[in-house]
Amino acid sequence: MFLVKDEDRIDRHEFFKFLSADDKKYLINFQKNFPVKKEHSHPLVLPSGLKVLVIGIGEKTKFNNRRAIIAARRVVSVARRERIRDLAVNFNDFLAKDNRENQKLLAEVLATNFQMANYEFVKYKTPQAEGWSFVQTIEVLVLKQNGLAEALGAGEVIGEEINNARNLSNTPGSDMTPQVLASEAMEVGRKWGVKVTVLDENALAELKMGGILGVGRGSSERPKFIVMEYLKGPRGEKPVVLVGKGVTFDTGGLNLKPDNSIYEMHMDMSGGSVVIHTIATLARLKVKKNIVGLVPAVENMPSGSSYHPGDLLTTINGKTIEVLNTDAEGRIILADALEYAKKYRPRLVVDVATLTGSAMSALGQRASAIFSTSEKIQECLVATGESVGDFVWPLPLWEEYEEDIKGTFGDVANMGKNRYGGAISGAIFLWQFIKPNNGEMAIPWVHIDMAPRMTPTENEFLSKGSTGAPVGLLTEFLKRF
Ligand code: BES
Ligand code: MN
Ligand code: ZN
Repeated sequence: MFLVKDEDRIDRHEFFKFLSADDKKYLINFQKNFPVKKEHSHPLVLPSGLKVLVIGIGEKTKFNNRRAIIAARRVVSVARRERIRDLAVNFNDFLAKDNRENQKLLAEVLATNFQMANYEFVKYKTPQAEGWSFVQTIEVLVLKQNGLAEALGAGEVIGEEINNARNLSNTPGSDMTPQVLASEAMEVGRKWGVKVTVLDENALAELKMGGILGVGRGSSERPKFIVMEYLKGPRGEKPVVLVGKGVTFDTGGLNLKPDNSIYEMHMDMSGGSVVIHTIATLARLKVKKNIVGLVPAVENMPSGSSYHPGDLLTTINGKTIEVLNTDAEGRIILADALEYAKKYRPRLVVDVATLTGSAMSALGQRASAIFSTSEKIQECLVATGESVGDFVWPLPLWEEYEEDIKGTFGDVANMGKNRYGGAISGAIFLWQFIKPNNGEMAIPWVHIDMAPRMTPTENEFLSKGSTGAPVGLLTEFLKRF
């Protein structure tokens, strides 16, 4: 595999010296006749029978870490199209001015992205006669070791777990119920040594988690609350709590979604799958931290037993939610979960949710929206996202916005007063449930509205369905935090 920038001469490539004289002649001749430009990819068979891929990656001066990540995925994508099973790449091909310093991180990110591009949700499809085209092995040539092999291994694990999260998210709604999601979490716990507890409806009722119970009422699938405790950090160190929205299907409830918006709503538990598999990743990498995962899992259905617009739900800590719209269900179940998170006296709470279409209107599909009470943590997340190719971008969390969600008959309304700034209304709603009550210590908090990154967009070299974001971001962030 030769990655070629516009000005590159193919005879300077690291792999060139390994070729036979005939093969060398052929390649030099090839580049003379076909200048390899950006977006070109050429599968070639050399005179010796050796198969090579020559891939153009554009202007040298514009090559950077972001492009290197896309290039990594593209390599795998082209290989899959050409049904190439085994690949050799040169690590140095991916070096850019902004990723030279931390080559271990680059190695990790490359391995992760090779895995991500090698994924497709085929579980429910009859295999093609020739079998599925997946790459089996990728050899990465590194000139100096310096711990790069270990980093490549870690990146592979991260990629596998991202793909496992995608498997959960991609599973159709009828097959991915709150019960199934809970079993998957238990399986992760069993495999990697994480303590998993699943609270059922009775336990939820005992705890008075009226938000989760309210949203779950319309479905014949009973709600669950998944608790994962990975406590491998120093004893007594406060944990980081991850909270993931686990709506296994979002019809909108009695405020039923219009027909074309309901499609893909089996992925509305993506925040949950992200939390489950971020914890799996950290456990597999033996990261010495205390991390807790909370996933409220419900199905949002219209029926004779559904919660109604106008209902007043009481959450675990006694705040009341005025339901103006049953389709703003994610924030209601997260309200209970965020209040529950306080029990752990966490040093940080991060929630991840496919919360609003409005976040997509604001950012398009290239970055998730983040909101935080800590500017430092927010900046760190943006920077980490940039280096691993799992992007987030901040929106404001100003107290003035609290005006928009004041309840008439309850403490907090579950949507804003007009259709503007819906992602912010969602975030400011959640803030009401994690912010300190009189006398309590403030808990640093981040909300990630991942609706923009639920599915990929053009030219990302990621297959249709879930992207697995932001497992990569959270893993890297939590390793450091
Ligand atoms: N799960 C949806 C948000 C969503 C939409 C995620 C599209 C991914 C893709 C969420 O529960 C929802 O319905 N939000 C509403 C809120 C509104 C009723 C205040 C929305 O964004 O329209
Ligand atoms: Mn909804
Ligand atoms: Zn939803």
